[in-house]
Amino acid sequence: MTLRIGVLASGKGSNLRNLLERGFTVVAVATNKPSCGAGALARERGIPLGEFSQKRFASLSQRDEAMRDWLLEERVQLVVNAGYDRILSAPFIDAFRDRMINVHPSLLPAFGGGMDAVAQALARGVKLTGCTVHLVTEEVDAGPILLQSAVPVLPDDTVETLHARIQLEEHRLLPEAVRLMEQSLAATRAPLG
Ligand code: GRF
Repeated sequence: MTLRIGVLASGKGSNLRNLLERGFTVVAVATNKPSCGAGALARERGIPLGEFSQKRFASLSQRDEAMRDWLLEERVQLVVNAGYDRILSAPFIDAFRDRMINVHPSLLPAFGGGMDAVAQALARGVKLTGCTVHLVTEEVDAGPILLQSAVPVLPDDTVETLHARIQLEEHRLLPEAVRLMEQSLAATRAPLG
């Protein structure tokens, strides 16, 4: 089973690049930051890119509704939230319930709910952190956990070195989570898109 994947991203796009390199079928990339690395990569690879800058919309929910409708038009079956830096509103989450996963750079529930999980882990002095892939629900970073991987914090780590080590694990974990979603959606025979 090959799922039609839609990726939401606002950042440099290393998780998107990794999914493409591993041969996943990414049929759409949506971003709120058209100039981000993930957007550039989508253009370079000829993947349909949905540009949803907030300034084009009167409210967050209007933006999310437009993004939802576009992803549905592209017949996306699984949404992968890979560095998307905005909270999603209920109509969007509802449309992709149990079909949307997020990768977060900490061992949730530690350091959830913010954009600076790596810096928080360093500041708190934990010796182990890591990454989590979870289903997206209304509660930010609190949906059911699919996979986690632990990463040691080294004495001389900076946010950059620690994040880089965590991302190596993200690049292993996120594809594994996508495969799990493929299996579970095939097993439940949930109608696809
Ligand atoms: C990742 O560290 C992810 O955990 C977080 O945002 C970052 C995105 O990285 N949510 P990239 O843009 O895929 O390189």
